[in-house]
Amino acid sequence: MIRDLILENRSYRRFYQEVSVKLEILRELVELARLSASAGNMQPLKYILSSDSRKNSLIFPHLAWARYLKDWPGPCEGERPAAYIIILGDTEISQSFGCDYGIAAQSILLGAAEKGLGGCMIGSIHKQGLREALEIAPRYEILLVLALGKPKEAVVIETVGASGDIKYWRDSRGVHHVPKRLLADLIID
Ligand SMILES: Cc1cc2nc3c(=O)[nH]c(=O)nc-3n(C[C@H](O)[C@H](O)[C@H](O)COP(=O)(O)O)c2cc1C
Repeated sequence: MIRDLILENRSYRRFYQEVSVKLEILRELVELARLSASAGNMQPLKYILSSDSRKNSLIFPHLAWARYLKDWPGPCEGERPAAYIIILGDTEISQSFGCDYGIAAQSILLGAAEKGLGGCMIGSIHKQGLREALEIAPRYEILLVLALGKPKEAVVIETVGASGDIKYWRDSRGVHHVPKRLLADLIID
């Protein structure tokens, strides 16, 4: 089951924008992050939730999408995320956030996959712009944005070929292909 969920949990970048994700669902997803591992059990992460179109429109302009799809500027109006979870580090609790936010992000996205939703971790953020748009206090470091919604694209896993190229691509039918390295190439013996 965990394998199925992980296979389903691809990075989706186009959504049925009109299918809303309720705030209560976002709270349930953050609950999964709350229960996840944290270095030294410091639990320094905080979250901003957004599920309404006004707030979503303040977040969207500060995100960069799919760097390898050079001709694609990101999802168009109508295909944008219906919700976001912004992961923050509270510097009054800790000065370093290690892998905590990656673990939290994965818990949230696996939970979303289980609910038939999908999303994408966005680390390429115009942080100052986002801070100003949402009036995020200086005590919070912006770490990661999770875009969420009902996926409107197919994503297929491929094998990294002999060239070693790991760049994902989109084919003429709009299917997104993601090359993964072989298991034999990951395990060092
Ligand atoms: C820490 C992190 C940051 C990422 N940042 C971005 C980003 O800024 N923009 C984006 O479009 N995708 C981003 N991604 C998604 C990756 O491109 C994606 O995970 C990768 O292409 C593999 O696809 P998969 O998630 O479907 O396995 C990020 C992923 C991770 C783990």
